[in-house]
Amino acid sequence: MKRRNFLGVAAGAATLALAPRVSRPRSLVRTLRVAPAEQSLVGAPHPRTAVWAYNGTVPGPELRLRQGERLRIEVENALDAGTTVHWHGIRLPNAMDGVPYLTQPPIAPNGGRFLYEFDLPDAGTYWYHPHLGSPEQVGRGLYGALIVEERDPPAVDRDAVWVLSDWRLDRDAKIIEDFRGFMDSSHAGRIGNTVTVSGAVLESFSVRAGERIRLRLVNASNARIYGLGFEGHEPWVIAFDGQPLDPYRPAGGRVVLGPAQRADLVIDCGGAPGSRHRVVDDFYRQRAYRLLDLVYSSDGAIRNKPRPVPRLQPNSVPMPDRARAERHRIVFGGGMMGAMPSQREHKGMFWTVNGIPVRDDDHHHAPLLTLARGRSYVFELVNDTAWHHPIHLHGHVFTVLSRDGKPSDRGESGDTVLLDPRTRVEIAFVADNPGNWMLHCHILEHQAAGMMANIRVA
Ligand code: C2O
Ligand code: CU
Repeated sequence: MKRRNFLGVAAGAATLALAPRVSRPRSLVRTLRVAPAEQSLVGAPHPRTAVWAYNGTVPGPELRLRQGERLRIEVENALDAGTTVHWHGIRLPNAMDGVPYLTQPPIAPNGGRFLYEFDLPDAGTYWYHPHLGSPEQVGRGLYGALIVEERDPPAVDRDAVWVLSDWRLDRDAKIIEDFRGFMDSSHAGRIGNTVTVSGAVLESFSVRAGERIRLRLVNASNARIYGLGFEGHEPWVIAFDGQPLDPYRPAGGRVVLGPAQRADLVIDCGGAPGSRHRVVDDFYRQRAYRLLDLVYSSDGAIRNKPRPVPRLQPNSVPMPDRARAERHRIVFGGGMMGAMPSQREHKGMFWTVNGIPVRDDDHHHAPLLTLARGRSYVFELVNDTAWHHPIHLHGHVFTVLSRDGKPSDRGESGDTVLLDPRTRVEIAFVADNPGNWMLHCHILEHQAAGMMANIRVA
């Protein structure tokens, strides 16, 4: 098994220091400056990579606030392209949602500013990223974690965030600028050749025997799906997409995370002092690789007794009334080996929602559906293609009712659901947030090539 590293050599041993902190100082970030930057993604001796970054780093600053607090951040755009910031998974007022043309004009290039300000109703793991020219802007490094702490967070020894991302780099560690290529756009999206954890290729992640870690995973990749296994460890999933659920151990210990999805894990470090354990990503079975090693320090165990797994308080998301919900069937189509829109009329558009391809330079289009404010809805999301699609709804949190007709045993909720090829999923939610909300595939090349729609709540 090889590292997913185009250079085929071990990168510098970037070992994270063991930081014994339970709760971190909350975010003091007041401004996000969007600008080109350079960062060592692969490590010496390879050159630094020219990226686009928030406040000079990829990922951007980790924003950490507490549930119920107000986020207030001014974004300054120093790119020479327009941009916006979308606060993925947050139930916020429509005008703060960061969708260009639909909820705000793009933040102008070379100095434009926009003030985002809204309350954080739900605790959990969220993230932020642009919603304009997404394949390129996210692909060049614009994203960051937004952590909303519980008012009374569970006791853990460490709260760590791994922002997972992948890059398509050449041998000089430069980004290959083939955004929106035909192959990527019409197939699985732009999957890179180098995977980074919070902005660097990591060899190892230091842990201590007996330690309990809350590990927050954020999939910030354009298109890559992860299937992470922690050898010698059995993580609990305690929240998905920020929303608490009954803690469970995923099948085969493998945590599957589509683009834009997040998982909160609790990992009890039961390994021996001095031992090493691989973290492997084998979502694409033929292309399994080692992400990094969990490396135990030689210190003795900080505790031996197992503790009960923490349960998080649910957020106050309204419960849909399933019996009286109005149903809609939404079919995602197109792609290679599927019914692609005619290239005569829809050049470069390969995907559809209910038969319609929508361009992402034109977010302002007629709504696919208009929903009555306060009413419950069930959407049957049908994947009529040969590809995976992580489908994301803005401004709301939905519950997953069933997959291919089988009731979902966990009743998990979230903002993004991964549809396997040729499957269907039922979701339910209360349309309680007025405005125009995107419903789209979070494989950004699919979104840009037609797979998006606007849902209006009026
Ligand atoms: Cu994470 Cu419409 O976006
Ligand atoms: Cu898709």
